[in-house]
Amino acid sequence: MTSRAAGGQLLRLAINGYGRIGRSVLRALYESQLTDRLRVVAINEPAEIHRMAHLTRYDSTHGRFPGQVEVNGGQLQINNDSIATHHFEQVEELDWATPGVDLVLECSGSFSSRSEAERHLARGAGAVLFSQPAAADVDATVVYGYNHRQILATHRILSAASCSTNAVVPVIDAIERAFGVEHGVITTIHSAMNDQPVIDAYHHTDLRKTRSAMHSIIPIETGLARGIDRVMPALAGRFQAQAMRVPTMNVSVIDLSIVLCCDVNEAAVNAALLSASQDGYCGVLGYTEEPLASCDFNHDQHSAIVDASQTRVAGKRLAKILVWFDNEWGYANRMLDVAAYCQSVGVGG
Ligand SMILES: NC(=O)c1ccc[n+]([C@@H]2O[C@H](COP(=O)([O-])OP(=O)(O)OC[C@H]3O[C@@H](n4cnc5c(N)ncnc54)[C@H](OP(=O)(O)O)[C@@H]3O)[C@@H](O)[C@H]2O)c1
Repeated sequence: MTSRAAGGQLLRLAINGYGRIGRSVLRALYESQLTDRLRVVAINEPAEIHRMAHLTRYDSTHGRFPGQVEVNGGQLQINNDSIATHHFEQVEELDWATPGVDLVLECSGSFSSRSEAERHLARGAGAVLFSQPAAADVDATVVYGYNHRQILATHRILSAASCSTNAVVPVIDAIERAFGVEHGVITTIHSAMNDQPVIDAYHHTDLRKTRSAMHSIIPIETGLARGIDRVMPALAGRFQAQAMRVPTMNVSVIDLSIVLCCDVNEAAVNAALLSASQDGYCGVLGYTEEPLASCDFNHDQHSAIVDASQTRVAGKRLAKILVWFDNEWGYANRMLDVAAYCQSVGVGG
């Protein structure tokens, strides 16, 4: 067994589920400054290795991989790094001990409970980070930039929350600090995902997810309000949320309406958000006044970008804010940021 990371040493990662998020995380690592702190040593994905390599090299959304991708026996060779690949659906068939996996990035979408994460630990992993909201009894649910410092070296099972939670929490926090929040409603307008069919099919038990992703604007269940309650307990019960999927490949937008505790105008709301983007949320929250469209945010690594041109205030206390986010790339970068924080405090080591 390869030796594990102690706090501050290289953290050895495995990716379980090499789909949109799994591949985005791998690629984001090679486009980041984190390769001296994080290394992917193993990937588990049902698809066989040549298809994994092909979809690593060529990506319809993010373009060609900026490096060498080769297959060498059962290893995926990325530049000079060899990554062992496995093709199991059952966690029990995996061996995370031999490659010395410190942290499994659980990106399959198939698992979300503590007991399912414990199956990875039983196979030798040091810790697990879910790429989605998980059960309430995980050690911590973190939105990087807001509460990731809650992570302790003793934690073993973590969730990086959802992409929309990562997008909206920094904005709500900035507004709460500046003006106070009474309550709010949120609409997430989200690009299509792989849990929808291209044309109508028996793809999902959720009947709306049996409908063509290319053809309709589709309302969809969302746990965003619960996610806010969990990571911002002081604001619990103050938000409601809706979501809909739209026929675009990537980039989503949040329409956030908040009743504030004091009188505001549009300039004051934008000033508070600009300040947050430059200060406490630098690198996590972006800000633009340009007349942009969703495609302009593709491959943007922020969790959210405030579109200041769309801020509105009705009466004196109802503020409406538009926030863009690359649901794949922004989130993949936050998974890496959380993993790097785990490395700094010694999670999984
Ligand atoms: N896409 C986004 O914008 C986004 C953003 C944030 C969070 N997330 C979350 O991240 C998770 C993955 O989403 P995604 O968009 O990446 O989905 P995806 O593209 O469908 O990728 C999931 C991959 O995991 C594989 N898989 C399924 N069961 C597995 C198992 N038991 N063991 C190992 N691999 C398995 C799938 O293979 P098969 O196709 O053969 O089943 C697929 O290749 C979901 O929970 C999602 O909510 C997604």
